[in-house]
Amino acid sequence: MSGQNVWTHKGTFLLAAVGSAVGLGNLWRFPYLTGENGGGAFILVYALTIFAVGIPILIAEIMLGRTSRQSPIMGMRHLTRTHQTSRAWESIGWLGAASAFLILSFYSVVAGWSLHYTWQMLTGSLAGADAETIGAGFDSLLASPWLMTLYHTLFIILSALIVGMGIHKGIESGLRIIMPALFVILLVVLGYSIVNGDIGAAAEFLFTFSLADLSLEGWLQAMGQSFFTLSLGMGAIMAYGAYMPSDVSLTRTAFAVAFVDTAVALVAGLAIFALVFGAGLETGQGPGLMFVTIPLAFSEMPFGSLIGGVFFILVLGAAISSSISLIEPVAAFLVERFDRTRPQAVAIMTLGSWALGLLTVVSFNVWSEGTLFHTLFGRSAFDFIELLTNIFMPLGGLLIALFAGWALTQSEVAKELGGSPGWFSVWRFLVRFIAPAAVAFVFLRTLPQVDGYLLPAFGALTIVLAVAIGRSLLVKQPPAA
Ligand code: TRP
Repeated sequence: MSGQNVWTHKGTFLLAAVGSAVGLGNLWRFPYLTGENGGGAFILVYALTIFAVGIPILIAEIMLGRTSRQSPIMGMRHLTRTHQTSRAWESIGWLGAASAFLILSFYSVVAGWSLHYTWQMLTGSLAGADAETIGAGFDSLLASPWLMTLYHTLFIILSALIVGMGIHKGIESGLRIIMPALFVILLVVLGYSIVNGDIGAAAEFLFTFSLADLSLEGWLQAMGQSFFTLSLGMGAIMAYGAYMPSDVSLTRTAFAVAFVDTAVALVAGLAIFALVFGAGLETGQGPGLMFVTIPLAFSEMPFGSLIGGVFFILVLGAAISSSISLIEPVAAFLVERFDRTRPQAVAIMTLGSWALGLLTVVSFNVWSEGTLFHTLFGRSAFDFIELLTNIFMPLGGLLIALFAGWALTQSEVAKELGGSPGWFSVWRFLVRFIAPAAVAFVFLRTLPQVDGYLLPAFGALTIVLAVAIGRSLLVKQPPAA
């Protein structure tokens, strides 16, 4: 592979991985989960799972990308040959591509909502509005398939343009503008919320250490969140890892990604809840926190329209830096495998995801409850797609951990990992045993959600995978090169 396909700067992988990791998961999901599950106790468990499961798999995924230096699908194909394992391991790449495609389809629709709110805030349309007006505004956005499609289209085109311009001129340059801007905005919003909100109440809500509120469900959610927030198990990190220069420390980078991602989640949580408490509002839940409660809080505060607009630009930027990492693995595959030009590959990927996104759009209106899709699958198309990704994501992570832990040779791993022999043993133990067991646990939790027509398909998938994994774990190591 030519030098053309390596990041220009040593720090770019870190920037890109943080860009992928920091998203709606940090700005909205983490604060909400923490508040619900025992505050500081949840954060403690979360930190533990980030260390014992998140970071080892993060390292494994980067490692697979960097050793193969190809897109996830072609890279896994290459690794199954060189390591004489079953071709079934190629499913890591395919699962990743499928998840990327599915996630982008709804991520883009939700990110489109932030586009709407950025516009509403900056034009001052919501200034001084009451709870009812703002709630009704969100409802009427959801009720309008055309408006949602418009925003969805704009957002996906914006992301496609960045990736279409290539990994250097598009992704690298784009991120070098977006990411610093995001950190500045985050600090501005934090400062604003300290002045105008109730930061003490926010800190109490997030950090009160309550073991009693920490259920088994909370543990499982912490694990799922550590996965989601680090963008693991869907090829995004592997694709970026393929461009990582060989002399950059994998271990140090992975720790840095996890640290920055967690720090952003904590700061965002403090800022958001300071605003919510300051305005005397409910901590609420669901999309409502981001798109009803937050606009309402801003509408009551000085310069709320301006800072609120800036806040939604933050959400938008965080979503774009994540969505480009969803396009890259599939686009890179189409370039490698079918000799497409990059713009063509990006157009194919985003057009497909855009079309699929229309299913999410209509889930909120034309195809809402009581219509055919609901009757057939027992849920909206949006919920269905989300459920699929909730199955694919841990599955991908599990396979990545197993392949990196068992199929890669000791010398390969040692060369990639760097660091001391002690760290090598710790990582190998975590990735061979602890992470797979933990992920399997989270995975099984999604089982009760799988019902009706999904059950036979899911059962077959599990059997095929169990057989494939069992067979392929008996790896014949190639003679040392
Ligand atoms: N990490 C993102 C967030 O916190 C969401 C996400 C999960 C993601 N998997 C991804 C983003 C894969 C890009 C690629 O919001």
